[in-house]
Amino acid sequence: MTFRDKHALVTGGSSGIGLAIAVRLARQGARVSLVSRDTAKLALARQTVLAAVPGARVATAAADVSREPEVLAAMAAAERENGTVDILVTSAGVARPGRFTDLPTAEFERAVAVNYLGSLYAVKAVLPGMRARAEGAVVLVCSGAGLVGLFGYTAYAPSKFAVRGLAESLRGELAGSGVAVTIVYPPDTDTPQLAEENLTKPAETKAITAGGGVWTADQVARVTLEGVSRGAFAVAPGAQIKALLWLHSLGAPFIRWWFDRVAVRARRT
Ligand SMILES: NC(=O)c1ccc[n+]([C@@H]2O[C@H](COP(=O)([O-])OP(=O)(O)OC[C@H]3O[C@@H](n4cnc5c(N)ncnc54)[C@H](OP(=O)(O)O)[C@@H]3O)[C@@H](O)[C@H]2O)c1
Repeated sequence: MTFRDKHALVTGGSSGIGLAIAVRLARQGARVSLVSRDTAKLALARQTVLAAVPGARVATAAADVSREPEVLAAMAAAERENGTVDILVTSAGVARPGRFTDLPTAEFERAVAVNYLGSLYAVKAVLPGMRARAEGAVVLVCSGAGLVGLFGYTAYAPSKFAVRGLAESLRGELAGSGVAVTIVYPPDTDTPQLAEENLTKPAETKAITAGGGVWTADQVARVTLEGVSRGAFAVAPGAQIKALLWLHSLGAPFIRWWFDRVAVRARRT
């Protein structure tokens, strides 16, 4: 798929990976719409896209993606400005690491509401139109924690597992329909979310996730859009996430054994 003259709507487009994807899409000639909650952050993000791509068509719409009526209203506003959505990127997400017993139930509910239902509501809103036109692309931003459960991610990982379940099931239903689904598994990426996560990440979680290094949002955006343009279903930036993608089921006993060893060592030190 090419992005020129397409309307790309990016949830979580005001920051981090979503914003980097929006900039790259605008550079390749797409009209972009950014959706997230904070209107001041949205206005800044719009300026960031315009600074990178003078003259780009950039709309913004405020919505909490965990509330379906707000998602529908934001979609409608974006479509009034930029036309029918051709490409949907769901990047809005939250992560609050911590030990299971330390995390309040509300964090589990929030993770599912924003990461899973927030993605679902946006997909629900655009998919009927894409199917009717027999073209479009849905890009779901997941996580390595959507492939394997990790120490400290009892709230986050299940919400991302649900995103993977949605993507895999949709892929089957949409095969041959002209609508492509892509799921992206970003490694640790230098964004405000990662900085916030690091404030509450248990030492064991830090030790387990340390090996993959930290990517820039733009690097993740580049690999993501390369995958979308060649019609890839799964995009796994970096060797560690690629290994997880290919081995997570087959290698699960080994991965669990290895993570347990790393966690024990991290606890000792
Ligand atoms: N950074 C990483 O290391 C990493 C690794 C793997 C996967 N991911 C995933 O990548 C995606 C993007 O994360 P990021 O690191 O780029 O984070 P980020 O820079 O903090 O951006 C998160 C975006 O989501 C929006 N958002 C959060 N809650 C929302 C809600 N309820 N409704 C609407 N928008 C909401 C934020 O804007 P407002 O707060 O203004 O709403 C912001 O635009 C997430 O799904 C995350 O789980 C990140």
